[in-house]
Amino acid sequence: MSKPRALGPTKRVVGTPELIAHRVVDAVFAGHPADRELARYANDLGDPKARRFVAQAVFAVFRWWGWTAPLFGADFRRGLVISHLLDSGDRVDVASDWSGPLPPPRTAGIAARAAWLRAAVAPRKLDASIERLVPPWFFESIHRTSAPNFERTLVEILQRRPPLWVRLVDDRKIAGLRLEPHATVRGAARVTSDDSVYEHPAFREGAFEVQDLASQAVSLACAPRGRERWWDACAGGGGKTLHLSSLLRGKGTVVATDVKARKLDEVRRRVRRANLQNVEIREWDGKRVPGKPASFDGVLVDAPCTGVGTWRRNPDGRWRTTPSDVRELATIQRDVLARAADGVKPGGRLVYAVCTITRAETDDVVDAFLAEHRDFAPATALHPLTGEPTDGRIWVWPWIADSDAMFIATFSRA
Ligand SMILES: C[S@@+](CC[C@H](N)C(=O)[O-])C[C@H]1O[C@@H](n2cnc3c(N)ncnc32)[C@H](O)[C@@H]1O
Repeated sequence: MSKPRALGPTKRVVGTPELIAHRVVDAVFAGHPADRELARYANDLGDPKARRFVAQAVFAVFRWWGWTAPLFGADFRRGLVISHLLDSGDRVDVASDWSGPLPPPRTAGIAARAAWLRAAVAPRKLDASIERLVPPWFFESIHRTSAPNFERTLVEILQRRPPLWVRLVDDRKIAGLRLEPHATVRGAARVTSDDSVYEHPAFREGAFEVQDLASQAVSLACAPRGRERWWDACAGGGGKTLHLSSLLRGKGTVVATDVKARKLDEVRRRVRRANLQNVEIREWDGKRVPGKPASFDGVLVDAPCTGVGTWRRNPDGRWRTTPSDVRELATIQRDVLARAADGVKPGGRLVYAVCTITRAETDDVVDAFLAEHRDFAPATALHPLTGEPTDGRIWVWPWIADSDAMFIATFSRA
């Protein structure tokens, strides 16, 4: 992948949003995730508005990198402004930097943006095709549906900024936060106000959790009930642990584990904030069941993955992920799923989830698991977002409800 000209190691960042954006872009090309880099500069920027502006500008760079890369070679600022215009449509706040025609509205779609870009900059420098907006290995590696225009539909939505979804813990109205509830998923709502939800007092009180709708679909597919005992094997930051616990309404138990002990501190903090009494948190060695083997009513494996399904929120991921990452993670996923399956009791349920759509990490993992575990079978389930029956493989496509993409497989043990 080509890169913009780097700032160089000695140039100090003195807090201008443009310089910080440049620093973050350099760091991504050195292999670091943009969201982590942005967090590092939060204090330099101070003001939440400046922070939001830099985050949007950086994400715009990577969302449109496939088209705009040649513009960065000579002039970083010009590349930044054009990417921001492509991303924001005619609702821009950098118009003072731009004397050319304004881009079409955000809702206009890729073809209209390509036409605007060709008119706005020297056309011979640019290939503004949909294939350029994703890495070259992408289309041949993903699971596809028979939907007409599948590729175009997928890239259209990848190019749109994602909404922010929250999961409301109770039905309280939250003053000062504009929310649009999902039509069928109880408690799920998208935030339509621009303010940072993390600074809202109701967030600190645990009245809602920030969680994408696709992630909410995972715990809904688990459908824990009664006094069941669930093991969330890859609990990570605890998003699904919290949701499982709340679906159990304080009665059953969720055992939350992770191989990275430091991640469990975040789970502890969130469990405390949400005042949940039915969560046990333990480090996992990645091998043995935490407790008696074959003792859990349900096991969730929210496995580490390439995160292709989150490319709307983390557009830099498309230029950092490689086919060898896909292969390596698929090997880990097979291993983690097989080991966690030992925890499921006869008649119990196993749920495998990944926020990706590559075949190697989805269908192939499930096929290999079923071939090697004759005591497990796919468990038919209703799609958590559409209510339609599935064969135990649930695909959350981003266009269903404007979310991340997610794959969920449900099994039952004989
Ligand atoms: C997708 S994240 C989990 C996200 C979490 N469930 C949530 O909802 O916030 C995957 C987790 O798997 C853990 N993990 C990484 N490598 C692993 C391995 N080899 N075996 C088991 N777990 C692993 C990571 O520490 C990470 O927390």
